[in-house]
Amino acid sequence: MTIRRILPYPARQLKRRARLVDGITDEIRELAGDMIETMYDAPGIGLAAPQVGVGLRLAVIEMAGNEDERDPLVLINPEILDRSSDVDVASEGCLSLPGFFIDITRPVSVELRFLDLDGVERELALEGLQARCAQHEIDHLNGKLIIDHLSRLKRGIIVAKYKKERAASKQKKSRMG
Ligand code: NI
Repeated sequence: MTIRRILPYPARQLKRRARLVDGITDEIRELAGDMIETMYDAPGIGLAAPQVGVGLRLAVIEMAGNEDERDPLVLINPEILDRSSDVDVASEGCLSLPGFFIDITRPVSVELRFLDLDGVERELALEGLQARCAQHEIDHLNGKLIIDHLSRLKRGIIVAKYKKERAASKQKKSRMG
């Protein structure tokens, strides 16, 4: 398995709607394995294929409730069948926007339908952090990032700050040779 490069915002691939996976091939299995490895390496609790430059509807999320365990779940062509009317607000980060955290309101629980790596259709009810994570990753498959949950004004402020920090860290890197 290979650790793939995670594309930072504003990469074009992050803004595109990903295409359906139309068959579980060796390539898809390899992509899923690499994405799990890349997620743990980052480290993160979820990763969507567009973040590694692949425009397919595939995401991985961590299901283990504590940091000592690993229980990755591969979601292929995931769909949200139902969402709770209960919502909550939590601070979310994104591996494609390192260092930024944004308060996002989302349904507390969701019901998902997806294909697993054997091509079997599954349905699963998620709540809490896993539900939030799945919604974040499905947003990625639709070309939507955490900053797209903000008003235009707030997004403009955050993006300006992000670009400034990225430019500063690039400069630092080039100074080190
Ligand atoms: Ni993200």
